[in-house]
Amino acid sequence: MEPRQVVDFYDRHPINEGQILDALARRGKDLSALTPEDLFDLDQDHYGGLQAVDALARLGGVGQNSRVLDLCCGLGGPARFLASRFGCRVAGVDLTHSRCASAARLTRLVGLSGRVSFVGGDAVRLPFKAGSFTACLSQEAFLHVPDKAGALAECARVLIPGGRLAFTDWVAGPKLSPGERRRLSEWMATAGVENFDGYRRLLSRVGFGAIEAEDLSDWWRRILRERLQMYRRLEAETVARFGQARYEEYDQLYAFFVGLVEASKLGGGRFSATLACPQMASTSKLHY
Ligand SMILES: C[S@@+](CC[C@H](N)C(=O)[O-])C[C@H]1O[C@@H](n2cnc3c(N)ncnc32)[C@H](O)[C@@H]1O
Repeated sequence: MEPRQVVDFYDRHPINEGQILDALARRGKDLSALTPEDLFDLDQDHYGGLQAVDALARLGGVGQNSRVLDLCCGLGGPARFLASRFGCRVAGVDLTHSRCASAARLTRLVGLSGRVSFVGGDAVRLPFKAGSFTACLSQEAFLHVPDKAGALAECARVLIPGGRLAFTDWVAGPKLSPGERRRLSEWMATAGVENFDGYRRLLSRVGFGAIEAEDLSDWWRRILRERLQMYRRLEAETVARFGQARYEEYDQLYAFFVGLVEASKLGGGRFSATLACPQMASTSKLHY
């Protein structure tokens, strides 16, 4: 997977800054007096909204004094939520320049720039010194990263010893075929979908212990069905912004995607782990 394909996918993504600002204007919001809460139902590009970010924050041990890395931060929705809910500092990193620029503008609009910052960068070469963060969180992004071991090793490098990593991602079921993997890659820039055991092995290999994994597939299946319906309700708006061909291309992608989830060929996973200190024994648990 070329980084260019990922960037192209997110440059044309239907959840974007323009769409958020339009929605706020339709609600009659004064753009010069926005609060973080005004954005929260519009700026989260993952499954489960704030509930999902809150669950990761809990697993990441996030509190007021935390220094949090939001890896593959998108439009910065989770980063702003963490800073406003917990009062912590958050740095967001994303490969897609337009996402970082939008994240920074939206963050300025809600007055959080003092605590939340964004920088462009690749998950496998993070622009931070070793031991910069107490917690690293990420949502639905590693599926785009070809070198998942490299990205997880970078999380280990930038965390303090004992620091917490918590992330969600798509996971492959045993029946996901090579053809379906190829189609996912062509249509939504996936670089390889890992499975539960694969993630546990990778986390352990790069120095994490206390590894836990939770299967979110039932929850995500329900959300995905609703998202497809919502996307179809927003047809006129999406066609006006991106054209009929793009609307239909994305609609087909979604229907294909929902079909894989309905057939349990794709599912959701939530993982958490602690960066091992030299004296820590490694343990792992898996909940299905
Ligand atoms: C589904 S979006 C999730 C955004 C955000 N985490 C959220 O929940 O709102 C995935 C994001 O991962 C970013 N991404 C993909 N590959 C990346 C990489 N190698 N390094 C950094 N960011 C990457 C994309 O640009 C995109 O913004």
